[in-house]
Amino acid sequence: MNKKNKEKIQQTLLDKIKDKTAVIGIIGLGYVGLPLAIHFGGKGFKIIGFDLDTRKIDKILHGESYIKHIPAKPIQEMVNQRQFDVTINFDRLNEADCILICVPTPLTAKMEPDLSYLLDTTETISKKLRSGQLIVLESTTYPGTTEEMMLPRLETRDMQVGKDFFLAFSPEREDPGNKQFNAANTPKVVGGVTDACLEVAAALFNCITRAVPVSSTRAAELTKLLENTYRSVNIALVNELKILAHRMGIDLFEVINASATKPFGYMPFYPGPGLGGHCIPIDPFYLAWKAKEFDFVTRFIQLAGEINVSMPYYVVERTQEALNSHKKSINGSRILVLGIAYKKDIDDERESPGYAVMKMLLEKGADVIYNDPWIPKLKPTRKYDFKMESVPVSPEELAAADAVIIVTDHSAYDFDEIVKHSSLIIDTRNATLGVTEGREKVFMA
Ligand SMILES: NC(=O)c1ccc[n+]([C@@H]2O[C@H](COP(=O)([O-])OP(=O)(O)OC[C@H]3O[C@@H](n4cnc5c(N)ncnc54)[C@H](O)[C@@H]3O)[C@@H](O)[C@H]2O)c1
Repeated sequence: MNKKNKEKIQQTLLDKIKDKTAVIGIIGLGYVGLPLAIHFGGKGFKIIGFDLDTRKIDKILHGESYIKHIPAKPIQEMVNQRQFDVTINFDRLNEADCILICVPTPLTAKMEPDLSYLLDTTETISKKLRSGQLIVLESTTYPGTTEEMMLPRLETRDMQVGKDFFLAFSPEREDPGNKQFNAANTPKVVGGVTDACLEVAAALFNCITRAVPVSSTRAAELTKLLENTYRSVNIALVNELKILAHRMGIDLFEVINASATKPFGYMPFYPGPGLGGHCIPIDPFYLAWKAKEFDFVTRFIQLAGEINVSMPYYVVERTQEALNSHKKSINGSRILVLGIAYKKDIDDERESPGYAVMKMLLEKGADVIYNDPWIPKLKPTRKYDFKMESVPVSPEELAAADAVIIVTDHSAYDFDEIVKHSSLIIDTRNATLGVTEGREKVFMA
């Protein structure tokens, strides 16, 4: 292939992106892939979504959303206008000009990166890869993944990266339930395997937001891990200080809010029952794992992990102390856990610290029930299998419980009513701050 032809491939793709005739394929239609489809669709691109989960495919084809904070309306509109097609038929990958990969990147039971979803996807793409396609990895991963794990599976003698096809990494910054920031007003960091890859990928993301180019895919991969490690470390700091402040008889939430009045050099992070979600408890361990290859121990990540993992234990310890003040033990007590989602107002319970709290309480002989307005049933996870259904937060359920633990401070909860009808509350979120009557029943944890 001569130089002129190679440049033509890139220019054709850039033109298609510019005039929005490029077809966007999105692999993995979960918390990241679905909103991305909606944002590109909103800009006039045709989208083909790929997923292995046929329930998700069916819902989209019926114009429905399966994620609480994502409305059905834009999905309906896109499907009705034949702008959004979804399928499990991966042969159709060759219809897409730009392929965005949004599959899970979890940890194995031994806390090592599980790239199986990504590698399966890469193998599938490699079988269908055609000239003029852009592949972008969106899933969070360790520095080196795009070039070490994907590139060798995609590049052949006839299909050269940066010439025949383009490969980039652009981390997703989705914050489920965040009403202020979304894909449209959050800049998107992009790193390409070659300059041409970067140019094409940046052109694509400039269609939905401001692309922030960096010099390599590794830099882009590490950018995401820095952002999430920063959160993990700062949350660990306030979680540790919460325990100290409690011993000192100081309200750490009051201290954090006072510190937050400093207009420079401080950003507030709040303590809680431990980390949850698909990102903060997992991503730093991707970096810690890769660091070993460089004879390097990431001590901050290790320490933050230890503190954050210990927080559900602290919640159980405080529950024990609270019950003790009522001359009761965990063993035999009926305990109502409020909120199993890992943060307020979302329906995602992955890695929720509420699970760890419930497991310990059950092991200690408690009669545990839970409520979550957004999670009516507990599905089996890799670690837990509770087979429970959410109970209503009625005056009767609250009064029947020996203790009520607030794990997630959903806006749907009326904390005045909760305190009024409960005999003992363990508050891990400072959710009862505004409650004036019955405060003596509240134990902070
Ligand atoms: N959830 C977040 O807030 C968030 C934020 C930023 C980054 N991320 C990262 O984005 C990635 C995806 O996370 P998520 O929360 O959207 O996960 P998710 O579990 O909600 O969605 C992943 C989807 O991929 C599908 N899938 C799995 N294997 C597949 C395959 N081989 N082919 C096609 N589809 C497949 C699943 O069925 C699922 O629908 C992860 O790397 C995560 O760390 C997530």
